Amino acid sequence: MFSTALRRPVLDLPTDLFAAIVDLKRELNAVILAHYYQESEIQDVADYIGDSLGLAQQAASTAADVIVFAGVHFMAETAKILNPDKQVLLPDLAAGCSLADSCPPDAFAAFKAAHPDHLVISYINCTAEIKAMSDIICTSSNAVKIVQQLPPEQPIIFAPDRNLGRYVIQQTGREMLLWQGSCIVHETFSEKKLVQLKIQHPNAEVLAHPECEPAVLHHADFIGSTTALLKYSFDQPGQEFIVVTEPGIIHQMQRQHPEKTFIPAPPNSNCNCNECPFMRLNTLEKLYLAMKNRSPEITLPEPIRIAALQPIQRMLAMS
Ligand code: 13P
Ligand code: SF4
Repeated sequence: MFSTALRRPVLDLPTDLFAAIVDLKRELNAVILAHYYQESEIQDVADYIGDSLGLAQQAASTAADVIVFAGVHFMAETAKILNPDKQVLLPDLAAGCSLADSCPPDAFAAFKAAHPDHLVISYINCTAEIKAMSDIICTSSNAVKIVQQLPPEQPIIFAPDRNLGRYVIQQTGREMLLWQGSCIVHETFSEKKLVQLKIQHPNAEVLAHPECEPAVLHHADFIGSTTALLKYSFDQPGQEFIVVTEPGIIHQMQRQHPEKTFIPAPPNSNCNCNECPFMRLNTLEKLYLAMKNRSPEITLPEPIRIAALQPIQRMLAMS
């Protein structure tokens, strides 16, 4: 909050935003961490672009004084949990996540209390309050690996994404109690339109994120986190890929392999709802203003931060 005339927020934008952001990075000793679902310009100015695990690992190891998180709230919150003494900035505080919203702390506490013998594994796409109630955090890139490391007789609650949960059950053969949350973006893909697209592009391989529904995943040639999808598209000799996740990732695919064709999978209706409305709240302008004003900043009550830290550290050790 800017309470005095001396600390009025800057609202004016420089003509060369990119250069101004680079200057501010040096001035603040800041690092810009960006998710693949961010708009292309933000990806281009970032120091590191990654999936949720890669971003958490970078946040855990950075020597920067200021972390500028070009992603959504739970990602910036994770960076703050790992770095209580650093300033963590998020260009737009309204950049939330439908998965995180689908798991309210009170309801989850009651669910957990009803199953006291269960170990709680929570997908990183949840609030700090949910992390604080969890035993281990996971991401889409390490969920299978983490569940495989647990004793077979251990009952498990998996929250909040039912689709990732179902995928982990299928991969590990483990029964888990699933919280019924979901991602509005990954549930928007239409199986019917995907099948039509496959008929139009018979040589294309289908790359899908495990947050998609089982009927869509059924048609995938490869399923993985955003980093895993990217790596697969680089390593395969194939020239055509249908990408069943947020299309922001296509910027990196196309940048590395301009000769390959990447086709975004269509949503159910005629909308652009395969773009994450939360991720897309961040813009280059807001990124600049956040750095210039050193706000909006992520803050957390210390007891929640401490309780949420251990399950994140367990994940980092088990990854
Ligand atoms: P990953 O980048 O970890 O695959 O997660 C995708 C996602 O939905 C992030 O919100
Ligand atoms: Fe959340 Fe889905 Fe957006 Fe990822 S794509 S931030 S899971 S709403």
